[in-house]
Amino acid sequence: MEDKESNIGSSSSTPNLIAKSNPNITQFQGFSVPSHFVSGIISFQKHFQALDDDIIIATKPKSGTTWLKALVFSIVNRHRFTLSNTPLNFANPHQLVPYFDLNLYKENPNPDLSTIPSPRIFSTHLPYPMLADSIKHSNCRIIYIIRNPFDNIVSYWHFVNGMTNVFKPSLEDCFEMFCRGEEAYGPFWDHALGYWNMSLEKPLNVLFLRYEELKEDSVAQTKRLAEFLGFPFSMEEEKTGMANQIVDFCSFNNLKDLEVNKTGKAPGPRVPSNKLFFRSGKVGDYVNYFCPAAVERLSNILKEKLSGSGLTLKLIY
Ligand code: A3P
Repeated sequence: MEDKESNIGSSSSTPNLIAKSNPNITQFQGFSVPSHFVSGIISFQKHFQALDDDIIIATKPKSGTTWLKALVFSIVNRHRFTLSNTPLNFANPHQLVPYFDLNLYKENPNPDLSTIPSPRIFSTHLPYPMLADSIKHSNCRIIYIIRNPFDNIVSYWHFVNGMTNVFKPSLEDCFEMFCRGEEAYGPFWDHALGYWNMSLEKPLNVLFLRYEELKEDSVAQTKRLAEFLGFPFSMEEEKTGMANQIVDFCSFNNLKDLEVNKTGKAPGPRVPSNKLFFRSGKVGDYVNYFCPAAVERLSNILKEKLSGSGLTLKLIY
């Protein structure tokens, strides 16, 4: 563990009672939600009509959303675009796969989605219980990706500190909010369990992925993703290594170095540059930020919250 100024030291074995809360987060429908998205969430729940072939990417922020958007877009559109002319070369994945809550229904209470080519790919940070009923009653496919919570906290802290006009918590504030379940779209355990339980109940409709597994065996996980989406790789594509090509194209290093992701302006007013979506893309980076006592404290909370669910997380890297 490096001795960084931001490092959460041994005092983190006990809660820091004066750690700040995020004033822009509100409790809504049992979760901690950014206040400025609430009206859009209500519109989404009221108006969104799911189609059976819709694809929805569901994540907590900083869990690998950008990566998953690129992979899903590439898998589904591989017969429309080659990797050399895919729109991903010119647009950030967030421009191609919009969020219900952050983009579509925030900008317009009832947007016209009828012109989006099929299958439509959407994304959301909302937990399962907050999805529009039409999604729950349709046959559409949902992919959830979870990430080691410690890496998730570090990634979030870096991200918000690079944003403009937002509350900038310290790393310790982020950690304490996470432990209390008050981080954006938290509690982490309830967010994960909603999708985990649905993946057990409706495995053809909900796929549960892990960032670390996607990183460790990207090709196998990409094939799994393609099967689940109903776009399996053909024998011919197996021979030409199509899955490997998609994985290489969507890799951290390739996406990060595309001009659009180096210098392009991100959608929305708060993210100054697409660059902010690509930091280090590593597993286990948290050891440079958290002391063992902090890791133990949150691990114990998670063990208790997830006990009996069957959802297990590898917490130590
Ligand atoms: P780090 O901050 O740890 O580097 P999200 O897309 O949900 O906002 O998550 C962002 C995290 O995913 C960041 O993690 C970012 O660097 C990482 N990331 C972005 N693109 C990636 C890719 N193609 N492969 C792996 N990780 C990626």
